[in-house]
Order: sequence, then structure tokens, then C-alpha cells
Amino acid sequence: MDSDNTALTDADAFVFFGATGDLAHKKIFPALYQMVRAGTLSVPVIGVAYSQWGLPEFRDHVRDSVRASGETVEDNETLEQLLSLLVYVDGDYGKPATFAAVKAALGSARRPAHYLAIPPSLFSTVITGLQDAGLNRDARVIVEKPFGRDLASAKELNRVLRSAFDESATFRIDHYLGKEEIMNLLYFRFANSFLEPIWNRDHVASVQITLSETFGVQGRGNFYETAGCLRDVVQNHMFQIVALLAMEPPAYQGFQAVQDEKFKVFKGMQPLAAEDIVRGQFTGYRDEAGVAADSDVETFCALRLTIDSWRWAGVPWYLRSGKCLPVGAAEVVVELKPPPQPLFSDSNPAPGRANYFRFRLSPNPVIAIAARVKRVGEEFIGDQRELSLMNSQPGTEQPYQRLLGDALAGDGALYTREDSIEAAWAVVEPILVHHHASQPYAPGTWGPEAADALISGAGHWHNPDPDPTEQPTR
Ligand code: BG6
Repeated sequence: MDSDNTALTDADAFVFFGATGDLAHKKIFPALYQMVRAGTLSVPVIGVAYSQWGLPEFRDHVRDSVRASGETVEDNETLEQLLSLLVYVDGDYGKPATFAAVKAALGSARRPAHYLAIPPSLFSTVITGLQDAGLNRDARVIVEKPFGRDLASAKELNRVLRSAFDESATFRIDHYLGKEEIMNLLYFRFANSFLEPIWNRDHVASVQITLSETFGVQGRGNFYETAGCLRDVVQNHMFQIVALLAMEPPAYQGFQAVQDEKFKVFKGMQPLAAEDIVRGQFTGYRDEAGVAADSDVETFCALRLTIDSWRWAGVPWYLRSGKCLPVGAAEVVVELKPPPQPLFSDSNPAPGRANYFRFRLSPNPVIAIAARVKRVGEEFIGDQRELSLMNSQPGTEQPYQRLLGDALAGDGALYTREDSIEAAWAVVEPILVHHHASQPYAPGTWGPEAADALISGAGHWHNPDPDPTEQPTR
């Protein structure tokens, strides 16, 4: 597909606000390292932070991050190349001197990409600082999530961004869109013709999406207290998956057409009510650093979503995500309606789900189609079988490698659009405030029992199988 964005050429510097933060260490430097290795990063990387560091500390930090990602750091040419691109600016984002120092560090670079991996409370300060120093001219901005914490704050962020950057120069990250398996949802749906006749309310009984993690909040208690599961992964990552599964075929070959269709899905989602969501909190969460002793923040949520469209009216979409669950996986199950007549002794009720599509997104991605097949013998009874169309594919790029590479190249295809983000916030807006209290659940279980009642109209939750190679972590 084409990116449809011809306005931007390659950026000639990468300015990284929040360069000493957690995300930078865990994900971004390993991604930049892979980009250097792949030949897609050769411009200066200017780290900006307020940590009283100098370039030597910054370099050590980057080396450490690359090592922690599993790379050997001794005699490593790629790493040396990355280190040679680094520049560091230490300073308070509220002071013009910091932006003057960034300008000096940019030297002759004229088309910088400013990457903001900073707390949302600092967004407008940094945008204003960039604008006042003229650093928004011919520049682009890459914005890390969370993009707002409700509809009003997202609108405000968009307003601030638009005051300094054109929409075509604004890249809002949802790292799920950079995942190979998520791109495959789009490809699988529209590169095949057999799916379209059954991909609708006439044939689909329900859709389930589970995004489960075995670990807790991993020292991010402070952040998590301001977010909770609904804001952290549902309004963004999970809704993006829903949009790709539910959208109409794009009208032409180009990502703007995809963005248009995704937007319509968000607009068609019915605003959620308190009865549509079960909130849970794992026992022990309140003992985490930075968490209030009486916190009601949800570390689990299960919700029922409806999309009011010609294609999906009446089909329930069940979304579930949580921390400290028994299995770490992301999986989609699209269940088809049963045959109209139970003709065989084992078909009423058929054990398990007769026909479904299963998209295991991680780990070990799978695309499978399920059907019942007769067992050998006189009786007409059968077994459930899965036809696997795809198993894990080696050599996939990490999402940040793909996304940052695209932004530097000026390609916004895998980024989210202003109108879609606001439409997605509008769906969850009612339950951000009006919801039932979080119910406790024991770590290692599938959340509070009430989550089972929520889905009872469509059977039960499909619990992803464990990855045999995964070690439980907390
Ligand atoms: C992040 C959330 O956006 O996504 C985390 O802040 C979550 O809480 C993570 O763990 C999940 O991403 P992935 O790629 O590990 O599935």
C-alpha cells in the first residue's frame, strides 16, 4: 500500500526528548541499534533530558540498554556506530536555554524529527519550547502514548500540536500498529476473497480479543495510577485491533483510505456504559510503590462492545486485558454461527466452538481456522480440528524499529490519526468516571468471576494456551 504522504522527505536529525527514561532504555535504544544495523539510521541522535548527565553517561546508558536487549557489546561495530551518532543535551524543558542548546546541537540539520517520549504533563511545555526556538520549522513530531487521558485532554493535545506542526508532520505512536501480526490482520482480510462473504453479522456470532500479561506493573505504579487498564491498552492497542478487524474494505490502495475506514469503525462503536465493563485489581497491587493504599485503579478489564454498522449490528465484541494473568498472550477469536440444524448426535450442543478464526498475535503468531471433522467409526461424531495457515515467522522487525524508521522517512501510514483518537476516547468517555468498583482477583487467575457473567450470552472466554517457552514473571 502507498503511504499517500508525499509532503515529507527524510529527516536529517532525531531529537529524543525523554532520552533517559524507561521506555528509551527498554525499547527505543535497542530499536535505534537495529536501525543502524539495517542502514536506516545514520543521522545524529540528540538525546534531551533533565538528569544532570553528560555525553559519557548517556553513552553508557545506551550501551547498557543495547546489552540488556541481548546484544553483545564488546567489539560491536554497529554499537560503536550508534554511539558515534549520539549527542546529549541536559536541561529543564521549561527553559529557553534548553531549546537553544538543542538548536546548537542540530548544527546544519534542517529537517529534524522531534520524538516526545515524555509524560503528557510536559507535552505543551516542550511543544511551546520548540515553537519559540523556531525548531518546529520544516520539522516533524513523533508523539508517544498516552495520547491524553480522556476526550478533553486528547483534544487539547491535538490543539497544541496543530498550533506548531502540520497534521502531515505529526506522528502519533501506537506501537501495536508497528507489529507484523497486526499488519497481517489487514492483509489477511483484504488479500483473500473467501472471507468477505462471511465476515459480517449474518455469519459471525461474536468476536473475542484477549491481551493478557503474566507480570504486574513492573515498578510503573506511579504511571499506572494515572492510567489503569482501560486507558493503558484498551482505548488504544485493543481498539486498533478491533478497527482492523471490523473496517470496510479501503476504497483505494493507500493508507489514507485505511485510516478513513478505521475512523468510521470508531465512530460506529457505541459509547460504553458501566454495565458493559468489569473492572478488576490483582491482590497486591496496592502494595506497589507509587500506588495508593485505597486505589480503585483497574489492572484488569473485560468489556462488551457493539459496533452500530450495517456489517456488525448485533454482534458482540468482547475485549479482555489484564496484568498478573495466568498466560501472556494476545489472541483474537472470531466465532462463526453454528449450523442451523443439529443433524448429528454430538452437535447439540456441539462441544467447544465449531467454526472460528483464531489469530494469535503473540507470542508465536498463528492464523488458524477451526472446523469439526468426523471421527473414524460407525457413529456420526467428530472432533474439533484447526487448520493452521501460519505459524511464527522468523525475522520480524520490532515495532519501534519499523515505526521510527517510517517517521524518519516521512511515512505516516502506521500512525494514528487525530480524528480516530478522539473518536476512540468518545467511546470510553462515559465509563472513565461512571463505573463499578474494581473487584479483587488473585494473581495467576483470569480476573474476577464477574467477567465470565459478562460474556455468558456468547458462551465463555477463550483462554489462550500458554507459550511453552515462557517463564512466569511478576
Ligand atoms: C504498553 C502499556 O503500551 O503496552 C503496557 O503501557 C503494556 O502496560 C504494553 O504492557 C504491551 O505491549 P506489548 O508490545 O508488550 O504487548
